[in-house]
Amino acid sequence: MKSVFFSRFFILLPWVLIVIIMIDVDTKRTIRAPGAARTGRAQRAARTGAPGGPGAQNQSALPVIYAITPTYTRPVQKAELTRLAHAFRQVPRFHWILVEDSTTRTDMVTRFLARCGVPYTHLHVFTPRRFKRTGMPRATEQRNAALAWLRQRRGRRDPGVVFFADDDNTYSLELFEEMRSTRGVSVWPVGFVGGRSYERPLVSEGKVVGWYTGWRPDRPFATDMAGFAVNLQVILANPRAQFKRRGSQPGMQESDFLKQITKVTDLEPKANNCTQCFGWRRLRLMWLI
Ligand SMILES: *[C@@H]1O[C@H](CO)[C@@H](O)[C@H](O)[C@H]1NC(C)=O
Ligand SMILES: *[C@@H]1O[C@H](CO)[C@@H](O)[C@H](O)[C@H]1NC(C)=O
Repeated sequence: MKSVFFSRFFILLPWVLIVIIMIDVDTKRTIRAPGAARTGRAQRAARTGAPGGPGAQNQSALPVIYAITPTYTRPVQKAELTRLAHAFRQVPRFHWILVEDSTTRTDMVTRFLARCGVPYTHLHVFTPRRFKRTGMPRATEQRNAALAWLRQRRGRRDPGVVFFADDDNTYSLELFEEMRSTRGVSVWPVGFVGGRSYERPLVSEGKVVGWYTGWRPDRPFATDMAGFAVNLQVILANPRAQFKRRGSQPGMQESDFLKQITKVTDLEPKANNCTQCFGWRRLRLMWLI
């Protein structure tokens, strides 16, 4: 009985292996083919600005996306910046404003930026030590320094969109194409924030009517720093709008800033009426416990 079983097993074994190999080759082929074509088109369009690809429009007519990233020296800094650069490098008409919390431009960041392949501006401003306590809003001085730079260096004739890209977040490329059409202030969902797996504006008939969040839903703009973009002209038209240290609590900075430049009813929902998530905060494990 046993020997019959073994002889059948050995007769079948090669056939089973052949079938497995064929299935494997077949799936690889079907998965690879469309992917390869898409990459090719995207690359060609990005290089030449030729019609037919995602970069079909005349790219020099696109508004520039200004991403403002406050950063500070710590062991994971280079890894975080590298992850961001890999995304930003693929976005056409993009300008990275990196602001170090430091008394000088550090060598590490200077060298990193020189090779990152993204057009950039490198600024630095040191946060006074008395503001570096827990319970204080973070990166206020750095974001304001970037806003001041934009107000000095850009004018009425420069189309642009400003976005606050903290260095510990992850952004998908779709997000940049969504925010590029921002006329005033646009908003979208953000993953892993507000004590939920995501936080998002609630949209009815194309207008923001409230917020889905697990943390202080009474905030006028219950969104994360990674959840909105502002047209450059709105920043220029409100020269006094900035992030406040005085009287601002952590987590209220977004609301305190947005109150100065817009109203909830004027917000432009992006990402398919705020039903898709293209940006994520770092998942804090304490939420899972
Ligand atoms: C693209 O647009 C810019 C500004 O609108 C214009 O100066 C330029 O000639 C256009 N280039 C092409 C190839 O259409
Ligand atoms: C968003 O909702 C409005 C009103 O329901 C609709 O007209 C519009 O097409 C929607 N936008 C998208 C991108 O689905």
